[in-house]
Amino acid sequence: MDKLNIIVICGSTRENAASANVSQYLLETLTTKGVNAGLLDLHKANIPLWDEHAKTDEKIKERLNQADGFVFAIPEWHGMVPPAVKNLFYYFNKCFSHKPAFLIGVSAGTGGRYPLTEMRSSTYKNSFINYIPVSCVIDKVNDTFNDKGEFIAETDYIARRLNEGLSFLQEYAKGLRHVRQSDIFEKSEFANGM
Ligand SMILES: Cc1cc2nc3c(=O)[nH]c(=O)nc-3n(C[C@H](O)[C@H](O)[C@H](O)COP(=O)(O)O)c2cc1C
Repeated sequence: MDKLNIIVICGSTRENAASANVSQYLLETLTTKGVNAGLLDLHKANIPLWDEHAKTDEKIKERLNQADGFVFAIPEWHGMVPPAVKNLFYYFNKCFSHKPAFLIGVSAGTGGRYPLTEMRSSTYKNSFINYIPVSCVIDKVNDTFNDKGEFIAETDYIARRLNEGLSFLQEYAKGLRHVRQSDIFEKSEFANGM
């Protein structure tokens, strides 16, 4: 079986974001697990707000199309997902189709839960993305990762949870390749969910 391609999506558009530190750690961990891992940092990608005449970035589209799965490191902003994360689905909905994703909520305080429920309730219908049941919340993120993406927490609890989530993601990614190679994926009659 070919190596898995997994893209880590950093959902913050802030410079020096804590989610970028988490994403760096995830990228390195996936690489040590033998995965072809890449990063899409929504701060650096600077994708304009979608409108009907917006031009799609073909390089990003190609990268997302090549991916077997995704990890989303999403900060909680005003109890929500940042707009840039939702924006991604307006441009690239079909790149996520029948692929697994591991959701990670990030907070400098004691939040980080709302991005998980929002993504699970509002982004899958037309994209057909598969959020795996395992997710993770990293609260007090600045006590957990430094600005080099190094794990600095006093206990290894979050590192173990992330490791387990990434391992599950790898297995789901292998399984869902089978779905995307099936007849029903080719023939599928309904482009959007109900
Ligand atoms: C516009 C904005 C709104 C925020 N709202 C919340 C919030 O609702 N809950 C929370 O736990 N943290 C909130 N934070 C703080 C984030 O937890 C903090 O910025 C953290 O570092 C994660 O975001 P980052 O990846 O952009 O750094 C907010 C930050 C910003 C910039």
